Amino acid sequence: MSEVIAIEGGHKLNGTVRISGAKNATVALIPAAVLADGPVEIFGVPEISDVEALAILLRELKCEVKIDGEQIKIDPSHMEDIPLVSDAVNKLRASYYFMGALLGKYKRVKIKMPGGCYLGPRPIDLHLKGFEALGATITYHDDTYLLEAEELIGNQIYLDFASVGATINIMLAAVKAKGKTIIENAAKEPEIIDVANLLTKMGARIRGVGTDTITIEGVNELHGTFHEIIPDRIEAGTFLIIAAAAGEKIVVQNIIPQHLEALISKLKEMGVQMDVVGDSIVVYGKEDDLSAVDIKTQIYPGFATDLQQPLTALLTQSVGTSHVQETIYVERFKHCEQLNKMGANIEVKEASSVIHGETPLHGTRVQATDLRCGAALVVAGLLAEGITEITNVYHIDRGYDNIDHKLITLGAHISRYEIDDE
Ligand code: EPU
Repeated sequence: MSEVIAIEGGHKLNGTVRISGAKNATVALIPAAVLADGPVEIFGVPEISDVEALAILLRELKCEVKIDGEQIKIDPSHMEDIPLVSDAVNKLRASYYFMGALLGKYKRVKIKMPGGCYLGPRPIDLHLKGFEALGATITYHDDTYLLEAEELIGNQIYLDFASVGATINIMLAAVKAKGKTIIENAAKEPEIIDVANLLTKMGARIRGVGTDTITIEGVNELHGTFHEIIPDRIEAGTFLIIAAAAGEKIVVQNIIPQHLEALISKLKEMGVQMDVVGDSIVVYGKEDDLSAVDIKTQIYPGFATDLQQPLTALLTQSVGTSHVQETIYVERFKHCEQLNKMGANIEVKEASSVIHGETPLHGTRVQATDLRCGAALVVAGLLAEGITEITNVYHIDRGYDNIDHKLITLGAHISRYEIDDE
């Protein structure tokens, strides 16, 4: 048996939705907390299954973990240097942040290969090169990495690609290295700044986050602290797209609008009416045809790869031909086949897709092949005539906090039930 989300499309949505804390910050902040010698309290934690998986890993390390609504308290005072080799490691990609954090703390870590969404090849060579530059030796055997260092010594590290994961992971190891580490061509995503903010509150010395050169002066000790997570710009973007697709008037609250500039300008180019009011964005339902637009995914502040999938669902409703070019994950197009099952007319080419609109969509059974494919199918389901059944819901639950409840509050007709596995 497995769960499906069923959406009856065609109902107009209205009201207010509040965005949760950022998943891609949370999944790094939680492993970062183990670097402290005392309790770290984090607020604004989204209710997603990735957090549950990380809590399992923390408990395996003998950290005390208390989750109370949107708050997590992590006390690493009595934690132990235990290999992370259970199945929980495979549940999410971000388990690899324990590599940097535990290497920083114990100068040694044994951890299984991380899991996560399949978006084409997702190597971690840049993370490993960074750890090696800090003095670690790395062996890989039986799907498990062993990283060890006599001591970690700061170094100058140039990233061949401005990788989010590599930037954070190297930062986690370098905060307790001896001397100065300089990360060049560092990634600039807001989630990286959030992680650096937590580390700084714990006593780390980090400069230049948000630029392409990050400088870290190693310290001997990091202490407990409090931290509030930034809002999830990808969840926010998904709801802006949902509002443009199926809304009459929707207020999306708890947004940092600067984090969404690329999406907002594309939506405006399509003809979506919206107003930015403080930390909210009001989106008005479409009165005229939407225009086709071209998208090229890029590192921040360019158009986020995580939003090209949900936006593609909306582009099926634009009049004309839209092009999506992927420069981050060249194989991130599995959603297109699912959208085509619903009546879309999308051609997938090398690292790109061509969306011919406007096409009416109809409900059918489709598969969330990865997290943001799931978000695209939710957008499509809200637009479609009839009932859309989305399978592999666990992908959606990994990254969206109560998406069905939030949509029901806006007036969507959604249910969840179990079906026999095919
Ligand atoms: N890359 C390498 N070598 C590396 C690391 C990355 O070649 O060592 C390549 C990747 O294969 C990819 C590109 O660099 O082609 C970008 O990867 P990056 O490391 O920046 O991404 P990530 O850290 O694996 C995070 C988010 C993704 C998001 C990307 C891009 C987390 C847990 N994941 O992944 O989020 O798409 O940054 O912004 O933070 C999602 O939320 O659905 C998701 C997949």
